[in-house]
Amino acid sequence: MDRGWGFLIGLLGAVWLLTSGHEEQQPPETAAQRCFCQVSGYLDDCTCDVETIDRFNNYRLFPRLQKLLESDYFRYYKVNLKRPCPFWNDISQCGRRDCAVKPCQSDEVPDGIKSASYKYSEEANNLIEECEQAERLGAVDESLSEETQKAVLQWTKHDDSSDNFCEADDIQSPDAEYVDLLLNPERYTGYKGPDAWKIWNVIYEENCFKPQAIKRPLNPLASGQGKSEENTFYSWLEGLCVEKRAFYRLISGLHASINVHLSARYLLQETWLEKKWGHNITEFQQRFDGILTEGEGPRRLKNLYFLYLIELRALSKVLPFFERPDFQLFTGNKIQDEENKMLLLEILHEIKSFPLHFDENSFFAGDKKEAHKLKEDFRLHFRNISRIMDCVGCFKCRLWGKLQTQGLGTALKILFSEKLIANMPESGPSYEFHLTRQEIVSLFNAFGRISTSVKELENFRNLLQSIH
Ligand SMILES: *[C@@H]1O[C@H](CO)[C@@H](O)[C@H](O)[C@H]1NC(C)=O
Ligand SMILES: *[C@@H]1O[C@H](CO)[C@@H](O)[C@H](O)[C@H]1NC(C)=O
Repeated sequence: MDRGWGFLIGLLGAVWLLTSGHEEQQPPETAAQRCFCQVSGYLDDCTCDVETIDRFNNYRLFPRLQKLLESDYFRYYKVNLKRPCPFWNDISQCGRRDCAVKPCQSDEVPDGIKSASYKYSEEANNLIEECEQAERLGAVDESLSEETQKAVLQWTKHDDSSDNFCEADDIQSPDAEYVDLLLNPERYTGYKGPDAWKIWNVIYEENCFKPQAIKRPLNPLASGQGKSEENTFYSWLEGLCVEKRAFYRLISGLHASINVHLSARYLLQETWLEKKWGHNITEFQQRFDGILTEGEGPRRLKNLYFLYLIELRALSKVLPFFERPDFQLFTGNKIQDEENKMLLLEILHEIKSFPLHFDENSFFAGDKKEAHKLKEDFRLHFRNISRIMDCVGCFKCRLWGKLQTQGLGTALKILFSEKLIANMPESGPSYEFHLTRQEIVSLFNAFGRISTSVKELENFRNLLQSIH
């Protein structure tokens, strides 16, 4: 365990240094600089810099990872989207609005009829439209081909949930269903406003190791926050021990990544013929521009890189598990399964070769007992966050939220299990360390999301440059 901690703390320390050192630059000029100028350059204590990460990810990793994630093993994720929210009464986006009208269930009613009968006021009508749009865009397409349905029946899973960071989704439940992730891309759904706010607020508020004394909202996106309060917030954050700070930064990175996707696959235009999805620069700027966000945006982007490095590190550490001869990416198609395993190993070797050289030991802090306690704290908070995902009102957002928290939870499990992985037998079953199919699928898809975000940042950088 301690090596896992030593590494984690080292990584956190290093990344923290890198992100706290660049705050005093001149106010940036162009739109691109306002989002990105603080997110560049060398990362202290590490032989790499943001540009190296970008190049490594965008040209070497991303294309291969995309290919892997399109394979049958990785595109079908079993998930129970029908679990009730354990924390408060589940009020869906539409329930919150004019319930009596029930506009969201009425797929069968032709659009023309609906708009005519509900047109009692302009405002109500707008609400209904907004609500319908959110419901429609947020819906999960659960269709699977017959062939796939047969195949998934064969997929064996031997679950062992002893050391899980996430609430094991009851995938045995009749409510759990396979979802085709390729049919349900993460993109703009119209799910925003108070409901979405509430989720993120609860995640930050309840689970980021907030000390009793802190009164102001932890969610840095919360409105009505002045400059001095912001400084209080960051000095509070700096006062936390490095691991707890890291927890906050992982959540913030996840939040940032999701917002990059929503901005990159925004519903730009909708006609009866087609929907057009694409980059919405305004949306991106509202979330990441240094001036518009009072300095928050660049910090969020740095947290995204931080999350990237953590997941990248976990993948490099877990290579021995996948290298064992009896590990298969089982779907029943022997040739394809072997090809996919080769591709997976190629990707993991590539990741391992990434020049991320931290001096892990010099950052080691705390004794064994303390490390154990922190691991347990992390685990409990993380499980909690995965349960909060059951409260997300929009199904598609719930799907990707669950998948990404489970993926990050799996990455943390790996980092905390370094010794167990190192001691794994080369063949035969590994009882000490095991990953279930669910964990493997979520780990790679979650990393795929962050990898896509990093790639999208390049696109946004180019787009922002082109408008000036
Ligand atoms: C882009 O997003 C903004 C909100 O940030 C919205 O007002 C605008 O209509 C969007 N643009 C397009 C073309 O959809
Ligand atoms: C989990 O989240 C709930 C709801 O926000 C909160 O009441 C509870 O204190 C949290 N528990 C932990 C261990 O974080």
